[in-house]
Amino acid sequence: MKVIYAETSQLLATRVAYCLGCRIAEVKYNTFPDGEQYVRVMNFDDDMVIVASTVDSRSILQVLLMLDACEGKNTTLVLPYMGYARQDKRFNEGEPISARVLARVLSEGASRIFTVNIHTPSVLGYFKCPAENLTIAPKIGEHIQTLKLADPLVLAPDDGAWEFAKSVATIGDWDCDHFDKTRLSGSEVKMAPKHLDANGRDCILVDDIIATGGSMTTAAGMLKKLGATSVRAAGVHGLFANGGYVKLMQAGFADIVSSDTIERECSRVTASTVVADAIRR
Ligand code: R5P
Repeated sequence: MKVIYAETSQLLATRVAYCLGCRIAEVKYNTFPDGEQYVRVMNFDDDMVIVASTVDSRSILQVLLMLDACEGKNTTLVLPYMGYARQDKRFNEGEPISARVLARVLSEGASRIFTVNIHTPSVLGYFKCPAENLTIAPKIGEHIQTLKLADPLVLAPDDGAWEFAKSVATIGDWDCDHFDKTRLSGSEVKMAPKHLDANGRDCILVDDIIATGGSMTTAAGMLKKLGATSVRAAGVHGLFANGGYVKLMQAGFADIVSSDTIERECSRVTASTVVADAIRR
């Protein structure tokens, strides 16, 4: 077995290869003067693993090229972060189902696909090969344990992340709650507490995606008004769009952590062991 890394997933691919005890395949990447991408996989095995977060158009195209380069091999595609997965239905007439578009093309040449904490697991049904969603909620929980907080309160910024938050909180048998959230626009959210008593508590906001950081920042402001002692943020996929990381820093979070599904300075949780275990099965 050999592991190929996309430019977006060098760290995670290396960690997965280490966990699997296999080698990273040499891949040449280049860009032609007209901007087109060139990919050449220099060495193969019968089993190939592509680790590639599709965070933008360039990385989506790069995966498609790598899948084609691996033609005839038994290729596992790991999508640590799958872009466009949130447009999983037609919210308005005339829109594409972007998640379906991506799932269909990414299935070409893949024998099986793994996603990590995909926003809507029903998207897996759009792939044309066996696909499984993995969760690293326990890994986020293990990170919280390292903070050695006496009695933390784990909070989801909305009820959509409630199940995820509960899975995180199970690791330390911590209290868990969620906010009610109304989205006003792409970057603006209005929030109100649900069953919350944050007064004097060390709070950890957890979510599958930190996109602009708007949800986390608004929730943090609310928690401080409620008398929280400290507020921390933990998300699986740290997109930090539109200066999201700066926004969180300015909001006074005591800790900001995301995973290596999107490689960031704050990627202190790794998805590698969960991914490697799934590949081995
Ligand atoms: C979507 O509903 C996700 O679970 C997150 O809550 C969302 O992506 C966070 O977005 P933002 O960071 O822009 O508030």
